[in-house]
Amino acid sequence: MSPISIAENQPLQSLDEVEDFYKERYPEPKPEGETKKPVVGYAPDKKENEFRNYEADARPTVREFYRLNHQFQTREFVQSKKREYLGLNRMKMGIWEAAEYLNQLVDDSDPDTDMSQLEHLLQTAEQLRRDGQPRWMILTGFVHDLGKILCLWGEPQWAVVGDTFPTGCAYSPKIVFPRFFEANPDFHNPAYQTKLGVYQEGCGLDAVDLSWGHDEYIYSVCKDYLPQEGLAMLRFHSFYPWHREGAYEYLLNDHDRAMLPWVNKFNPYDLYTKSHEKPDAKKLKPFYDELIHEFFPDKVRW
Ligand SMILES: [Fe+2]
Ligand SMILES: [Fe+2]
Repeated sequence: MSPISIAENQPLQSLDEVEDFYKERYPEPKPEGETKKPVVGYAPDKKENEFRNYEADARPTVREFYRLNHQFQTREFVQSKKREYLGLNRMKMGIWEAAEYLNQLVDDSDPDTDMSQLEHLLQTAEQLRRDGQPRWMILTGFVHDLGKILCLWGEPQWAVVGDTFPTGCAYSPKIVFPRFFEANPDFHNPAYQTKLGVYQEGCGLDAVDLSWGHDEYIYSVCKDYLPQEGLAMLRFHSFYPWHREGAYEYLLNDHDRAMLPWVNKFNPYDLYTKSHEKPDAKKLKPFYDELIHEFFPDKVRW
C-alpha cells in the first residue's frame, strides 16, 4: 500500500456525512396512519438508475471517502486490523466511560445543529426505550457506535465508518460506488473475484472477513455480554449491501437468516432518530448506569 497523507486520508468533515448519505439512499418510510412504527425487513424496490443517482448526488467529500474505502479495504488489511485490535489488549474501560471517551471525537461541523456521538447513542437507545423494546436492545442501541473510538486511536475514517462488504470474494454491484473497487489490489486477484472467492457456499457471515470498521470492533468488545440478536445488530449494522440490498445470500447460514430481521429492526433506530430533540446525558446517566451494570462488568476489555 502506498503511503497516504492525512489530508487525503480524512475527507469527511464529520462522520455524520456518511450517515446522512445512508439516509439519502434509504429515506425514512412514511408512517402509516397515526402510529409511527419502526420498519421490519424494509427493502425498497429500488431501480438500478435510481441507485446511480445517489452516487451522482453524493457530496464530493462522501465520494472521496468511498474512493479511499474501496481502494484500501483489502482482505489482507482486514485481517491485519483484526490481529491488531481483536485481542482487546489496548485498555480496560467501562461502557459509560467509553461513551464519554468517544464523545471527545468532535467533528468539524456546526456544533449547534449536529449531534455529538454520545447524543446519537442516547437518542437511538431512548427511542428503543420509548417503543418498549427489551432492555438488551436498548443497551445495544446505546453501545452500537462505541467502536468509532478507533478514530481516536489514529484509524482513518475509511477504516472506521461507511458500509461494510465482504472481502475475499467478488464485490456485489449493490455496494455503493462499485467502480471504486477497480483500484483495490484484491480486484486484480482472480482468486478473490469469483462469486464465492475464498468462502464456501452457506459458510455463514461469522466466517467472512467483512471490511474493517466500528461494527466488528464493538461486536468483539461485547460478545460475551449481549444476546446473539444484539450482537448481530452490532456486527452488521453497517452491512447495508446485505440488510438493505439483499446481496450475498449465498454466504448466509441459518443463523444469519434468523438474525436478519433483528438487524433490520434495529436499523431505523440508528438512521431516523437523529434530528429530534437532544437528550440530556446527565439526567439519563442513572438509567444507563443501571442498565449497563445489568449486562456488563465495571470494566470491559478494549
Ligand atoms: Fe454505526
Ligand atoms: Fe449509529
